[in-house]
Amino acid sequence: MIFNSPQQIMHGLGCLNENTFKLSKLNLNRVLIITDSNILKVGIIAKVTDLLLDSDITIFSDIPPEPALEDLVACVDVIKKGNFDCIVAIGGGSVLDVAKAGRVCAKSNKTIEELFGENLVDNAGIPLIAIPTTAGTGSECTAISIFSVGDMKKGIVSKYLLPELSIVSPEMTLSCPPNITAASGVDALVHAIESYTSNNATPMTDALAIKAVSLIANSIVKAYTYPDDLAARESMATGSMLAGLSFGNAGVGAVHALAYPLGGKYHLPHGVSNALLLPFVLKYNITLSTLVKFTDIAEAMGLETPADDMSDKGKLHHVSETLISHLHGLCRAVNIPEKISDLVPLEDIDVEYMTTEAMKVERLLRNNPYKMTHDDVRSIYLATV
Ligand SMILES: NC(=O)c1ccc[n+]([C@@H]2O[C@H](COP(=O)([O-])OP(=O)(O)OC[C@H]3O[C@@H](n4cnc5c(N)ncnc54)[C@H](O)[C@@H]3O)[C@@H](O)[C@H]2O)c1
Ligand SMILES: [Zn+2]
Repeated sequence: MIFNSPQQIMHGLGCLNENTFKLSKLNLNRVLIITDSNILKVGIIAKVTDLLLDSDITIFSDIPPEPALEDLVACVDVIKKGNFDCIVAIGGGSVLDVAKAGRVCAKSNKTIEELFGENLVDNAGIPLIAIPTTAGTGSECTAISIFSVGDMKKGIVSKYLLPELSIVSPEMTLSCPPNITAASGVDALVHAIESYTSNNATPMTDALAIKAVSLIANSIVKAYTYPDDLAARESMATGSMLAGLSFGNAGVGAVHALAYPLGGKYHLPHGVSNALLLPFVLKYNITLSTLVKFTDIAEAMGLETPADDMSDKGKLHHVSETLISHLHGLCRAVNIPEKISDLVPLEDIDVEYMTTEAMKVERLLRNNPYKMTHDDVRSIYLATV
């Protein structure tokens, strides 16, 4: 078994300090900071630039949420024109994904389009420091970048995308508005759940995923309701990092596979697409072979489980059903809409299109513990409409 991760991770309250960059031993003479306009507006990049006073800094901030291929192309142009020693990415998954892909695309002999897919990247690129500001996608710990390409979401997957250093500082998420805290937090929870039940799960990814479930499930409502609650922010940041390390190796499953065409076609935030689909996909995933895993997840979330009698399948099934309604309630508690039609006019929802496209996301469907058929996927979308 192979486990991939960033070369170094610094994390926890106070981890971004005057020693952080010295300890990294990276050449920081000419630095490109990649971020977005909202992050610039809230001013949190000063927490980083104040520590880089000896560096020659250029800032690129032209990255929208859920970036498209064109946004990557624009960033690669900027990277190619500068002679940068290091890239420092400060933002949510959108910014981190552009920076991770940009640093390799800028040095590749292939075209950007040729790098989409699995393990097609041919070089290590410019050194990268990733600093997440959401909790989150876990992108600071994964070997994948996701982009909107037409009406779909597509990925570049390569170990060369993994940063040299990831700095997971909970303080960077304090300015995150509640709706982003909710959507990116649910995304992190889904990463943990899907990787724990993935066909590729290992003891190592299981340990990371189950701790992530407990940290995220027990702090997401607090972080949403009280944005300044530093303890809740720390649990969320650590949980999303652990979930990233887990799903970066075990993979995610059908929730993500179905979320790609939904988010891609209707431009919904990634975490919201996941939340809409989560309960309906889990209903299929709870099978005889996953009952114990779902019971573990329920326990990590603080639900009552028959810990003394794990052989009673009926009881375990009941726990799994309770888990699904608890997750449903958690999404409502952070005000994520319940139905696609809460966000998209009913007449525009194209279930056939989404079903056909989701069935093509074999890279993720093969991780799913239950083998989804075309009819299953259609029924899930219909239930979500
Ligand atoms: N590479 C991966 O492993 C991976 C995993 C999951 C999702 N993703 C991708 O990540 C993207 C979503 O990322 P996200 O959920 O982190 O959101 P995001 O990066 O799209 O950010 C959403 C909004 O929140 C703002 N924001 C972020 N942090 C903030 C802060 N601290 N203070 C104030 N505003 C802040 C941003 O400026 C933006 O407007 C999608 O494109 C998704 O496909 C990637
Ligand atoms: Zn995700």
